[in-house]
Amino acid sequence: MSRKQFVAGNWKMNLNNASAVKLAEGLVAKLAGNAKVDVAVCPPFPYLAAVGKALAGSKIALGAQDMFYEEDGAYTGEVSAAMLKDVGCTYVILGHSERRHVIGETDELINRKQLKAIAAGLLPIFCVGELLAERQAEETTEVVSRQVRLGLEGVSAADARKVTVAYEPVWAIGTGVVATVQQAQEVHKMIRQLLAEMYDSATAQAMRIQYGGSVKASNAAELLACEDIDGALVGGASLKVDEFAGIIAGAR
Ligand code: PGA
Repeated sequence: MSRKQFVAGNWKMNLNNASAVKLAEGLVAKLAGNAKVDVAVCPPFPYLAAVGKALAGSKIALGAQDMFYEEDGAYTGEVSAAMLKDVGCTYVILGHSERRHVIGETDELINRKQLKAIAAGLLPIFCVGELLAERQAEETTEVVSRQVRLGLEGVSAADARKVTVAYEPVWAIGTGVVATVQQAQEVHKMIRQLLAEMYDSATAQAMRIQYGGSVKASNAAELLACEDIDGALVGGASLKVDEFAGIIAGAR
């Protein structure tokens, strides 16, 4: 298995200009020697440019937390893929559970964003995951499969390789309740089998699947040791240099 692990920090709606730049500078200093893991941070839109500047010359990539699917025009409050590219983004998070469940994004909307992001040359971090009630009703496979299928509709096998899928059980996000290693690996394996059905086995083997939901330095190593877990999407713990560096140190 030759997938390089990928750890991304989702800063969500946190920090201010000064603290975002300070965090980025701290990560650059701490992670200078890291080469075995791909690393990205996803600050709020207003701080992308300043954080991008702080990351310049480092191996840490810049990502955004969302985007809109239209090219440009009268879409008040929205941000285009081209704008994100322009400001130095490599990655964009799409379909995060907070956007699905707080803002109300649908699979169809996320799919439109996915197609646009890929066409614009951004690498999507495409989030899927079940609610607690869905897990309790044993609907995890059904829910996650639907999200993966609809979110990747119209994406070719060649383009699918540009997508990182992030499996984030909603009940594990920001709750301190991390999925067990078995629960996480089981869903990751299911997603990879589904990708093999949708595309082909080589594509499924090449695609990275991150785990997200209460990942910390203390639990990262056992999660990242799993065969089908290719990295982590980290919220709370990505706001602290030592915690985030500790997660990266736990990668295989
Ligand atoms: P958390 O968030 O690490 O704070 O649980 C993860 C995420 O929402 O991506």
